[in-house]
Amino acid sequence: MVDLLNKPVQANPFSRPEPDPFFLVIFGASGDLTRRKLIPAVYNLYRQGLLPADFFVIAFARRDNSDENFRHQMFRSIQQFTPAASDGRKSWDQFARHLIYHQANFDDPDGFEALREKIHYLAGQNTTTENCLFYLATQPRYFSVIVQSLADADLSRPAQPGDCWRRLVVEKPFGSDLQSSLELTRQIQEVFSEKQIFRIDHYLGKESVQNLLVFRFANSIFEPLWNKNYIDHVQISVTESIGVENRGAFYEQAGAFRDILQNHIMHLLSLIAMEPPVRLDADAIRDEKVKILRALRPIAPGCVGDEVVRAQYSAGTSGDQLVPGYLEEPGVAADSVTETFFALKAFIDNWRWAGVPFYIRSGKRMPVRITEIGIHFRPVPNVLFNIGKTAPMLPNMLTIRIQPNEGISLQFQAKTPGYEMSIQPLKMDFGYSDSLENAPPDAYQRLLLDALLGDSTLFARSDEVEAAWSFVDPIIAGCSDIALQELPQYSAGTWGPKLADELIIADNRIWTLTRRTKFR
Ligand code: BG6
Repeated sequence: MVDLLNKPVQANPFSRPEPDPFFLVIFGASGDLTRRKLIPAVYNLYRQGLLPADFFVIAFARRDNSDENFRHQMFRSIQQFTPAASDGRKSWDQFARHLIYHQANFDDPDGFEALREKIHYLAGQNTTTENCLFYLATQPRYFSVIVQSLADADLSRPAQPGDCWRRLVVEKPFGSDLQSSLELTRQIQEVFSEKQIFRIDHYLGKESVQNLLVFRFANSIFEPLWNKNYIDHVQISVTESIGVENRGAFYEQAGAFRDILQNHIMHLLSLIAMEPPVRLDADAIRDEKVKILRALRPIAPGCVGDEVVRAQYSAGTSGDQLVPGYLEEPGVAADSVTETFFALKAFIDNWRWAGVPFYIRSGKRMPVRITEIGIHFRPVPNVLFNIGKTAPMLPNMLTIRIQPNEGISLQFQAKTPGYEMSIQPLKMDFGYSDSLENAPPDAYQRLLLDALLGDSTLFARSDEVEAAWSFVDPIIAGCSDIALQELPQYSAGTWGPKLADELIIADNRIWTLTRRTKFR
């Protein structure tokens, strides 16, 4: 008999090796992303013992600053944004020695020459290699010039092949449409090969997003049902309670389509709809994701008026606070027609999904922050229980909560205890925080570690980005001449315009969100 209890514990095949010694050069180091996300992420990796002894973070920015002052500013940000990490001053002081400030303009050859010398000097002092992860955390308009400056300073490739590695992380948005994204890829690929490029989308670093693959392909009970024969429709909602905050100027150029649909939602959609990959490597997974994006039925510009709802928030309440409308936000034009909300119905024209609608919506200043995927199964036939006084019964629904309260919930029918045959919907609910001990790492921690290890599975490949733009471009084009008076408004703190409800009600369906009432 096999003694299951005494089976030797196998090493976890998925545990991560330690990255090689490295230099992380962050361009745009005086910006929000660096202090809110990047430095806290590197610091947490350091505290968790996941970084090698030899590493430096070089903060590259245009403003005058000193190492000391930059370290102090970053400590204040850690206290503000990740208070849990700011407990040990000693650990911070040790970490801070790895932080170096480098002031230069993005097109200044001397500044890049000085960067190269600094890296060479520090590597020599520490007898380590000159592995470099360059992180573009600036506004997108600086991406090309920085890449060119890296090339001119001979920083994009090792002096001798095999000496060390050089990689480039590019923040979203990657281009502002298909054309500009192709052009950006062309410019970057003149300097870096595709294998060196890591297009980051922090949604892919979220634990609950990575779990989509495991949930679908490490269980045998869901996959046979995962198709048009059993699934009636799918809903993807990405709602936020915040407005545009202090990013009005950026948001004016982006809008909800570029900010959320082209990237975060396209990743969720492709992971939920893709075929099983042949292997678990970066390219095999991305091959399947891109097939889904290419199978999306285009929404022609002329049909956008009928098939896509867009809207903008007006003044209202968020929690118990009165909040301004989008047009009153700093950096926003008084006559702006930028959408802060959209809802649409998409179709994936392949064998698995033919005819299954994917209802997608996203908005800022909605009542709560929720990202959720709802898989709505077909109703049972109108016989036995789904007839007479127990009808209509709610069909089964599987909800995948991406955030917050990450988890999975299955709605099913059960008999109400008693002498009558009456039926009620119940939920089996799994919450990460209830069931799993370890708090998931922050998305940026995971993605930075992957980039340091050269694993690009959770980064977007150029063809994925382009396929996503090919779907989104005609939608944006179709909206371009809608005047402000035609753009519906919704009060801050509400679920968007009535038109969004009508879009789904027209198909005899309603938007659903499964909020957990009880969680830790
Ligand atoms: C960013 C968008 O990519 O994602 C923001 O630019 C948005 O507008 C944010 O608020 C949402 O991220 P999260 O992780 O809070 O869902």
